[in-house]
Amino acid sequence: MKIAVVGGGSTYTPELIDGFARLAPFASEIVLLDPAAERLAVVGAFAQRLLRTHGSAATLRWTSDVDDALAGAATVVIQLRVGGQAARISDETFPLGCGCVGQETTGAGGFAKALRTVPVVLDIARRADPGAWIVNFTNPVGIVTRALLDHGHRAAGLCNVAIGFQRRFAAQLGVDPQAVTLDHVGLNHLTWERAAYVDGVDRLPELLAAHRDEIAAEVQLPPAVLTSLGNVPSYYLRYFYCHDEVVREELGQPTRGERVAEIERQLLTMYRDPALTTKPELLGQRGGAFYSEAAVGLIASLHQDDGGVHAVNVRNEGTFPFLADDAVIEVTCRVGADGARPVPAPPLRPELAGLIAGVSAYEELAVDAAVHGGRDRVYRALLAHPLVGQHDTASRLTDELLAANRDHLAWL
Ligand code: G6P
Ligand code: MN
Repeated sequence: MKIAVVGGGSTYTPELIDGFARLAPFASEIVLLDPAAERLAVVGAFAQRLLRTHGSAATLRWTSDVDDALAGAATVVIQLRVGGQAARISDETFPLGCGCVGQETTGAGGFAKALRTVPVVLDIARRADPGAWIVNFTNPVGIVTRALLDHGHRAAGLCNVAIGFQRRFAAQLGVDPQAVTLDHVGLNHLTWERAAYVDGVDRLPELLAAHRDEIAAEVQLPPAVLTSLGNVPSYYLRYFYCHDEVVREELGQPTRGERVAEIERQLLTMYRDPALTTKPELLGQRGGAFYSEAAVGLIASLHQDDGGVHAVNVRNEGTFPFLADDAVIEVTCRVGADGARPVPAPPLRPELAGLIAGVSAYEELAVDAAVHGGRDRVYRALLAHPLVGQHDTASRLTDELLAANRDHLAWL
């Protein structure tokens, strides 16, 4: 199978290739696509060494020609970042002046990323083979995947939050990761683990009893939140449950984007060294742990129809009765050749349903703004966002967002 990796010049690419090399015998041809030719050559050459290290028979090449990369690819992995880390740093900064969290996937910053990204991803998808599966890692994954599905593409959105919990819980329980099935619910970067089944028994109450404080520290939330909810929110819920505290913290420290830019500089220096033939430890300081396992597992299920269980961004289609069918949700799914189908799960408690409904409404408006443009659409999406909500804030954020993204929005 030919796999195209869009954004293949990313410093994350070796993580993905390492997974393909170890776990994906079905990957016969890998093509990395990126407009940044010099960086792509560095990452590409290192990716080739990784394949050799693991004895993979796959061929790998790289190109900046979109149609060359996509032609005949049965799977297109999209992991691009429009505007690079500079745009990310802007997303993490401009909302702070309005008292709002600065984050690359959540709130006004995540919305700015969506506006820049959706048109680029849709253009790539339009040029892919009609039968190809588009595996979307590009943030904000929920919004980008919804736009892809709205435009008729065969797309599945992927995030590593769920697989991270699966691995952590398995280690705490002393079982194999494959033995743990999560009840993972919500929207991308707005998810909760409600259960962790091992042999049909929910072991989450036991985990919370034994390791609550440790898990709370990991997701950077007060332990009382986990006790009250009776579940494990993802780290991204911190931007909601501790919003004002996060804003105060962010005002006093460098952005994550600045830290990531420094890590990337060091990674690229390492990748340039022909003696480097395995993933450097420094890559572990990025947030991408287990991404390759998640990707390989999903791609295998889509093409081999193995009915594997994965957390995927899919159409709601009645799963959460309070959302429209065409909303995109992130839940535990069974995956086969016809795509991902949510595994039946109990109804959501009101505190989860309320937040999901609010953010999903924002996501619907965000797709509309990204596809059609216009200041009013941008303002409406921000007004709908539970972390914004007020006219004055939404209006100021709209102006700031548009000013900061002038070079990236074709309709401006
Ligand atoms: C997690 C999220 C990803 C996000 C990443 C950021 O893995 O699930 O969606 O891209 O963190 O990591 P970074 O190292 O770029 O801060
Ligand atoms: Mn993610």
